[in-house]
Amino acid sequence: MISFKDLQYQIANKTILEDINLEIPDGVFAAIIGPNGAGKSTLIKLLLGLIEMQEGSVIIDGIPQKKWLKANSFGYLPQREEFDRSFPATARDIVLMGMAGTLPWGRRFNKEHETKAVEVMHMCGIGEKAGAQIGSLSGGEYQRVLLARAILTDSKYLILDEPEAGIDRPGVTSFFKLLKKFNEAGKTIITVSHDLHTLSKYCTFLICLNRRLHCHNNAELINAEVIRNTFGDSVRLIEKEY
Ligand SMILES: Nc1ncnc2c1ncn2[C@@H]1O[C@H](COP(=O)(O)OP(=O)(O)OP(=O)(O)O)[C@@H](O)[C@H]1O
Ligand SMILES: [Mg+2]
Repeated sequence: MISFKDLQYQIANKTILEDINLEIPDGVFAAIIGPNGAGKSTLIKLLLGLIEMQEGSVIIDGIPQKKWLKANSFGYLPQREEFDRSFPATARDIVLMGMAGTLPWGRRFNKEHETKAVEVMHMCGIGEKAGAQIGSLSGGEYQRVLLARAILTDSKYLILDEPEAGIDRPGVTSFFKLLKKFNEAGKTIITVSHDLHTLSKYCTFLICLNRRLHCHNNAELINAEVIRNTFGDSVRLIEKEY
């Protein structure tokens, strides 16, 4: 379980996150939703230890985050990977990076690592593309490469920041179906997403964030009130009658 306790975060005197108290149980398929600038990526970066905590704490499996991170890692698919896709690397090279943290310093990947990487790529539906240059992959294929890299870290937690960006609707559905499979196989998934339609089908735990938490529960997932509270006046809801 992941617990955020009394988390506050400021950048240049501007409060980005305030009074975050949140418990994410193991085994859920959780979504973090909220408008642009709501602090979603910041919350994730704090969880991953990519930015320094200011106030409050994060406890993972009962262990303070810093200590937990010394022995464990998260599977992570970042928002907009800033990687030059003209760089001469194959899809397999990118996936192998997921294991880099487990290699002793100076050691290189061996055949066993490569076999494992290709196995995970097959699980993610891009096994055929293992030897392809990353510049030749479609947006959806590249997201699956990044997912395979995150899976290969072998963490029980899979954290994704807008994984659907740049993928068409059928692609998003098949990507979320794949995530659901990993969730059913035991991984706890926490994904930031703007695709409320898809989330309403796949997620079991909803975290609504706009600087503060507006709800975090697994009851009625996405309804008009929740959306209005989280997104404020920036969203226009069209009520549909059945
Ligand atoms: N390094 C930084 N320097 C200055 N401001 C920052 C920095 N990182 C984030 N912010 C600000 O913090 C706020 C929250 O940013 P964050 O990236 O967490 O939002 P988000 O909810 O992920 O938004 P989006 O949906 O657009 O990805 C924004 O107002 C952003 O401008
Ligand atoms: Mg973001």
